Amino acid sequence: MIELVRPTTDLSDSWWAMVDEFGDETIHGSSYRPSDRDALRGPEVFEEWVDWLGRMERPDEALPEGRVPSSNRWIVRDGRVVGTIAVRHALTPSLVAEGGHIGYAVSPGARRQGVAREALRLALALAAVRGIDPVLVTCDVDNVGSARTIASAGGVVEDERDGVLRHWVRTGAPARPIGAGPIETRAARLVPITPEEAAAMRAGVRRADWAEGYPREDDLDAVATMTSGPDAWSPRHVVRRSDGLAVGSIGCFGPPEDGVVEVGYGLVESALGGGLMTDVLSAMVRSLEASGLTVVAHTEPENVPSHRVLARLGFRRVAEAEADSGAEWLWARGSVRGAVSET
Ligand SMILES: CC(C)(COP(=O)(O)OP(=O)(O)OC[C@H]1O[C@@H](n2cnc3c(N)ncnc32)[C@H](O)[C@@H]1OP(=O)(O)O)[C@@H](O)C(=O)NCCC(=O)NCCS
Repeated sequence: MIELVRPTTDLSDSWWAMVDEFGDETIHGSSYRPSDRDALRGPEVFEEWVDWLGRMERPDEALPEGRVPSSNRWIVRDGRVVGTIAVRHALTPSLVAEGGHIGYAVSPGARRQGVAREALRLALALAAVRGIDPVLVTCDVDNVGSARTIASAGGVVEDERDGVLRHWVRTGAPARPIGAGPIETRAARLVPITPEEAAAMRAGVRRADWAEGYPREDDLDAVATMTSGPDAWSPRHVVRRSDGLAVGSIGCFGPPEDGVVEVGYGLVESALGGGLMTDVLSAMVRSLEASGLTVVAHTEPENVPSHRVLARLGFRRVAEAEADSGAEWLWARGSVRGAVSET
């Protein structure tokens, strides 16, 4: 039987036997480096290290620069440590490009026996419990065993970057109801705009992590009414993971009324065309619907790219109306009670 076990000194003999088997090979997903060997051989230091591996899972633990919380597990088969696997709870630019959410390794003597396949399945369940969906799992292009392991978990290749194949794997985590915090999407973080940032945007201040052209007129309209701290409905920066730049905004036109909430969104010119808005809007809609809300959106009749995104996400055009700025189309997912007659 294969289990994922929190690192424990009860398994230290088995751990060291596995490390010896790896020799100088990197043990992915272990947080262990061969250069640590001598220092960690002392039982007290080892115990401290094992304890630290466990604490890395806690969101309140102070971690070194560049590290994110992670669930570190040892892959145990019939009581013996045969590998390591780690689920990182968030992505940094370097994890986006290379490391991904999950890293793993199986000891040479236990390979080709289905260990990685089962360990990855169990790790996906761990990610799902933490609400992470989908996860990024990467491997070198020539790592056939790892690519097959990821494929067997339902991984879909997004691209290859510098010899690294990047796959996304669904974990089946239910969407989280929307709150006032950031929303994580596959390609972006949706970070609530603070009143100070809103003021800077309105004052025409330029920040280095705002993409050329951001904020757009529509982004300024969205923040125009902000006075207090961010809530679930207020605008968020769309921060692209690949470069950390804010490339647009997304938010709701105020709190829900009669269970219906309207979303507004937009990206700068250079961020269009790569599927980013589909990804971002889909995450937003999932969170709003997980809160029991019906989501609607307005578009101009000529805004074909926006129609495409909405249609791809299952929205239907439900009404046409005359607004001050001209004709508008109303789009909805699910049944919209009051919202249609209001337009
Ligand atoms: C990659 C690795 C984790 C695979 O572990 P494993 O326990 O041997 O994998 P499994 O036995 O579960 O096999 C999973 C799939 O990969 C295939 N596979 C595994 N090793 C393979 C190899 N060397 N060549 C071709 N296919 C291989 C299996 O046939 C199986 O395919 P299937 O699902 O189509 O039947 C292991 O080789 C390893 O630890 N390598 C070094 C570290 C590493 O590369 N980690 C991943 C970093 S991204």
